Formats: sequence, structure tokens, C-alpha cells
Amino acid sequence: MQISYFHVPAEMPSTVEPEAAVVIDVLRATTTIAWALRNGAEAVQAFADLDDLRAAAEAWPAQQRLLLGERGGQKLEGFDLGNSPVAVTSDVVQGKRLFMSTTNGTRALDRAREVPLLLTAALPNRGAVASRLIDHRPASLAIIGSGWEGSYSLEDSLAAGALIERLQQNGGATVVIGNDEATAALALWKQYSSDPEAGLRCATHGQRLIRLGNHDADFLCCAGLDQLDVVPTQQAPGVLQSV
Ligand code: MLT
Repeated sequence: MQISYFHVPAEMPSTVEPEAAVVIDVLRATTTIAWALRNGAEAVQAFADLDDLRAAAEAWPAQQRLLLGERGGQKLEGFDLGNSPVAVTSDVVQGKRLFMSTTNGTRALDRAREVPLLLTAALPNRGAVASRLIDHRPASLAIIGSGWEGSYSLEDSLAAGALIERLQQNGGATVVIGNDEATAALALWKQYSSDPEAGLRCATHGQRLIRLGNHDADFLCCAGLDQLDVVPTQQAPGVLQSV
């Protein structure tokens, strides 16, 4: 398995057609997706565009849907939920489809939707995602950070490094590093692996969340390593389920 890491979706050349891709948005979309599926959501359906989201949600039974919307770190007006992983508790999401749009994470998913095996990862499910990939053995894997409006995000690289570390531990010589971004992500993870929350808090988006108000519970949740067995997997374009 040859692994390449792209800091933001636009860095992945259109000529690159990996067999598998993992989208990462540690703060907070892919952490929220993992927890929502762990807590019994039927699926998370991701949208880059809010009008598309509203149209799809309206076609779904009202009792079985929730609208999850975030821009700039804040909940969108008229939506049921923002993008906090601690808000997607089982009493809220059980059996529901979550129609989700966030500033960067769902756009990154949109960019990768044609990849044959598309997963999402965050720190709480990095071990589970690594195991799935080792079992599946794709020849090429693109790890795609969501970034922030086209720019590098420290926290996504941190989690990319954590995932690569576990892939190397479990996959041995079958795992090959494909670009310098992947090597750098691994080095960054080694720097913060004993205290991932410190890395999340010093990242620019971590600082943005701190300015918006108390996000201590979100930081704790997003920094929790290897707590979930959930592997969010694209089953239809934009539709993620735990399979
Ligand atoms: C995003 O997609 O950019 C986010 O997950 C932002 C956030 O809600 O923290």
C-alpha cells in the first residue's frame, strides 16, 4: 500500500486515482461523523452545498432526519445541530439520517466521492480505520486533510500521522510512504502523540474554537485516541455508514 498525504483536497492532482482514500477533519467533522455512527445514526449524508442538502433532507421522512450545519465553527440557523461531536448522543441521533454540511470537511468528502473505497478518520477511530485498510489492502491510499478554506490545518496532519503510524505498525513492509507530506505528518504526530489535545488547541482552528467559547468537551472528545470501532464508509455518493 503506497500512502500519500495531501494537506487539502486541492493538492491532490486530478491525475491521481487512488484505490482508497481517507478524509480527515479532526476539528471537528470527521470526529462528529464517527461518534454519530457509533451512537446509532442510520447514516451521515455529507453535502458541500446547502441547497442540495435542504432538497435531499426534504425528501426524507421528517421524523427520521436531522440537519447538521456549521460555518466558521458555528451552528447554522434553522439547523438541528452544529458540528459538535458531544452533541450527537444516542438519544438525539439513534435511527436518524444526519444531513450534514460543514465549512471544510464535507467539501473534502465531496472532492473524493469517486474513489472506490472512501473512509473518514479522526483520532478516536484511527486504529479501526487502519485495521480496515490493512484488511482491504489497496495498492494506493490517499489521505486527504480538509484544511481550513484551502489552507493547511495542523490538526489534520496530526491525525494523518497517527493513522500512518498505525498502518506501519500493522502493515510492516507492505506499507510504503509515497510523499514527503506523509513523512512530515508522521514526524508531527511523534511530536504530539503523548498529548494530542495540546496539538489541537494550538492549531489555528483550535484557537478559533476557543475564541468562539468554551469547547473543552469537544477538544477532549476530538483528542481521544482509539476509542471507537466505527469505520465510516461511503456506501453511495456522500452517504457514510458504519459497515
Ligand atoms: C469544518 O468542516 O471545517 C469543521 O469541522 C469546522 C468545525 O465545526 O469545527
